Amino acid sequence: MFKVAVIGGSGLLGRALIDELAGQVDWHIASTAFSRPSPQMVRLDVRDSLAVERFIDHVVPDAVVIAAAERRPDVCERDPAHARALNVDAVQMIASAANRHGAWTLSISTDYVFDGKHPPYRHDSTPAPLNAYGQSKLEGERALIETAERGCVLRLPLLYGPIANWSESAVTSLVPAIAASAAPAAQSAKMDAWAIRYPTFTPDVAVVIRQILERHARGETISGIVQWSGDEPMNKYEIAVRLAEALQLDAHLTPQHTPTDATPRPHNCHLASSRLEALGLGRRTPFDTAIRQVLAAFPWRGMTTSA
Ligand SMILES: NC(=O)c1ccc[n+]([C@@H]2O[C@H](COP(=O)([O-])OP(=O)(O)OC[C@H]3O[C@@H](n4cnc5c(N)ncnc54)[C@H](OP(=O)(O)O)[C@@H]3O)[C@@H](O)[C@H]2O)c1
Repeated sequence: MFKVAVIGGSGLLGRALIDELAGQVDWHIASTAFSRPSPQMVRLDVRDSLAVERFIDHVVPDAVVIAAAERRPDVCERDPAHARALNVDAVQMIASAANRHGAWTLSISTDYVFDGKHPPYRHDSTPAPLNAYGQSKLEGERALIETAERGCVLRLPLLYGPIANWSESAVTSLVPAIAASAAPAAQSAKMDAWAIRYPTFTPDVAVVIRQILERHARGETISGIVQWSGDEPMNKYEIAVRLAEALQLDAHLTPQHTPTDATPRPHNCHLASSRLEALGLGRRTPFDTAIRQVLAAFPWRGMTTSA
């Protein structure tokens, strides 16, 4: 029996990963949630080191995946101590607990560790985060590499996938404004056309993580830093146009060609996925196909757009 502990199984990525791993024969998956517990998940606050140790000691995993994080840049900017507790200290505590059982730890990081000025970025390019979120995730990477006796960091860009509410992903969070702009006599919605993103489908990332875990299970452990990214560059205005098409909405959208966010964000952090591709890993679902799956599974018509 190969045992995997998924910390943060209730999140956008965590849920897709749990779904993917459920199909593995002879694997036991133990997962945690924080504010959204379900009967299948253990409630765990990763800021509580004793609770983290108790959970890992109980599961005695072969591998630990850390998908719990504070991933909202504006929240990290306002409260760097909170960002540090989740994105740095918790990673260090979980990796220490995993070490006690010889478990291998995979921690998830972000393209925001880069400044976005010189893409594409390789796994060994020099990080230079522009905001508190990217800084905390970079420190979390270093905590993982320094603490885990056996471990790996997987960097990812903008994620989207099956959602529980629109705001779970920066892709679907555009929907309420798109829908509002399609109302009779509505004003046009301004959409950022400056920052270039590579939206990446969480079920595809879940396949990548499952493949990385399979390598570990058969003794071909991947170490250090790896990256995975979708391969379709888009700004938010272009994402919004494609969302409106998929939703069959006659939206009124205006591209905004200068950055508008209060929190500084990088221009283009395209992550090279070459290390994983060279190992024959990965799957990429085309954006237009994937986003239709996401929208079809979410009962949006007739709901308030702020749901
Ligand atoms: N979303 C993106 O676009 C994106 C892009 C690049 C990288 N990433 C990285 O990908 C990883 C997964 O992100 P995500 O989008 O899936 O995030 P998410 O949807 O916000 O999920 C965060 C997870 O962390 C859990 N959590 C929050 N506070 C916790 C606490 N105090 N103790 C224990 N668990 C806690 C949440 O549990 P509850 O929901 O039950 O409270 C949830 O399971 C993160 O490392 C993130 O930095 C995300």
